[in-house]
Amino acid sequence: MKHEILQSLHEDHINMSRIAELVAAELVAMERGEKPDLNLLDDIMAYVTAYPDTFHHPTEDIVFAQLKRVAPEVQEDVTALLAEHGDLIATGRAFQSLVRAVEEDVVVTRAELLTKGRVYLDKLTAHMNKEEAGLFRLAADRLDHSDWATIGARVEAMEDPLFGPAVAADYRRLWQRITAHPPGR
Ligand SMILES: [Fe+2]
Repeated sequence: MKHEILQSLHEDHINMSRIAELVAAELVAMERGEKPDLNLLDDIMAYVTAYPDTFHHPTEDIVFAQLKRVAPEVQEDVTALLAEHGDLIATGRAFQSLVRAVEEDVVVTRAELLTKGRVYLDKLTAHMNKEEAGLFRLAADRLDHSDWATIGARVEAMEDPLFGPAVAADYRRLWQRITAHPPGR
């Protein structure tokens, strides 16, 4: 059975996939010439900054660092994933800034917004798939009780403000959109 920390990281990925589906739908609408829902994109990127970037990726960094100790052969994979975390955060911020610029009527071309959105989505999806197929599996196999205790001592607890037990006020509008859009549809 997966340790609860790993299980929770896996659930984060499922949740982020639901968010990614909403972003993808907005990009498709833009490609059809429709206006994107900027409020929705802004809410999504605010959430990404507040939880996945602040808690999810740093927690993975701690798990991967421990995995590297017990399985030195994963060194290169860990280094690559850590770099991807930095890149994902930067790419997400770039997309978020562009969404805000459009909201503030700064001239941004549709192509620019689409490209930044697409790049972000593709990187996020590829990254999560890589983790699930690679180091998450290895972490489940190789990390023992005491490794998870070491990891647990370094991870600070944080409730997910959107998918956690209580939806924070800032994310109520986004939560309504998520529940109106069941996974895979
Ligand atoms: Fe990650």
